[in-house]
Amino acid sequence: MSEKAKLVLGENTYELPVITGTENEKAIDITKLRAQSGYVTLDSGYMNTGACTSAITFLDGELGILKYRGYSIEEIAEKSSFLETAYLVNYGKLPTEAEMKAFSVKVASYDDVPEGIKTQIKAFPKDAHPMAVLSSNIVSLSAFYHSLCAQDLTPAQKDEAFAQLIGQIKVVSAYAYRHSQGKEFVKSDKSLDYCSDFIHMMTGDKNVSRDVAKALDVLLILHVDHEQNCSTSSVRMVGSSKANIFATISAGVDALWGPLHGGANQAVLEMLAEIKDSGKDYKQFLAEVKDKNSSSRLMGFGHRVYKNFDPRAKIIKVACDTVLNTLGVQDPLLDIAKGLEEVALKDEYFVSRKLYPNVDFYSGIIYRALGIPTNMFTVMFAIGRLPGWMAQWKEMVEQDGFKICRPRQIYTGDVTNKYKDIKSR
Ligand code: CMC
Repeated sequence: MSEKAKLVLGENTYELPVITGTENEKAIDITKLRAQSGYVTLDSGYMNTGACTSAITFLDGELGILKYRGYSIEEIAEKSSFLETAYLVNYGKLPTEAEMKAFSVKVASYDDVPEGIKTQIKAFPKDAHPMAVLSSNIVSLSAFYHSLCAQDLTPAQKDEAFAQLIGQIKVVSAYAYRHSQGKEFVKSDKSLDYCSDFIHMMTGDKNVSRDVAKALDVLLILHVDHEQNCSTSSVRMVGSSKANIFATISAGVDALWGPLHGGANQAVLEMLAEIKDSGKDYKQFLAEVKDKNSSSRLMGFGHRVYKNFDPRAKIIKVACDTVLNTLGVQDPLLDIAKGLEEVALKDEYFVSRKLYPNVDFYSGIIYRALGIPTNMFTVMFAIGRLPGWMAQWKEMVEQDGFKICRPRQIYTGDVTNKYKDIKSR
């Protein structure tokens, strides 16, 4: 017999179906609750709300497990590539050699953007944040690719949009960076792999070391998807109104920008630099973030779902040492990060709240070693997360019972005001 939950409201008892996921996660299905009882549920910050079923990513926050399509993040980071992981996440299986080749060629065919987009990038002030340039130019692509703005895309159009956006996010990001430096755009080189080409388009140098390209590739893999986080939920929310794919993805970029989400990687570096410049000791700094009267936090620490080590942070911490050693870079900020982590993990405040380093704590140190400037860090996160956003959007629009996302509320405002003429108020 299938499991049921019982809800008693006054005289009435309602039986609610229990849904069990393939990893044995349980959920009470309240889809019919309001129709049956007149009640809704209230869950501020969606701490306990499953907004969808999804077969893309599984994460267990207590055990620190992350899997894409059933493959552990550790194995994918070690053996796969960013483009192959993008394919896996979107299509649900690892590609054959022929499929991988065709997909890579298709992505590489989107090696430029329309002239109007280039003009628009050049119109931004040089000190514009690259996330602003990225978001506005992603949505602007809708002005140039009308057929992909249809309400319902065919499977072939979805495939095209997937490859196109993976190709063009690289171009827009690199161009945004070149413009901020007052330099000419560098044309993509199809003979280079995705990450090498991105670095080449940023620096103008085609001789990208394999170690550098590999390090960036691993970072992008680790960011590909993370189930229903803030930006992915924004993508699902906006996409559910059947907004076009460019507008939908641009919404994901915007949500990611916030310092509690993807913007944390930039904030971590700024925090580490501040500690270095101010000469504060770690305990003194931690006392500030623990102080309830202060709004500052230990950036790169804590997570809504992980109450244990973020498995991505573990991989990045090891990669950090390898990359810095390989490149012969000595970064005092890495020592500060390690020192802070060590002290925080022994501190009662962090221990009792189960606050551990997250993906953003060490990623910036690697970006810095690769020569990527701080204000581009969240752009790097966006490039990595784009395949996940696209896959989650596709899954949503193809799912049976697709509906516009539209939460309810409990109204707590005034009830019976009477309008007064402006002169008598
Ligand atoms: N520094 C100091 N205190 C913290 C921190 C932190 N980084 N994170 C959480 N806390 C405290 C918080 O003050 C609260 O304490 P109390 O129970 O006494 O009120 C308790 O821990 C629970 O925190 P919360 O804000 O209720 O937890 P949340 O699940 O709503 O927030 C978070 C999760 C990631 C927004 C938060 O941990 C945070 O702000 N971290 C710093 C920003 C950051 O690194 N963000 C990147 C997240 S991972 C990558 C991504 O999603 O993009």
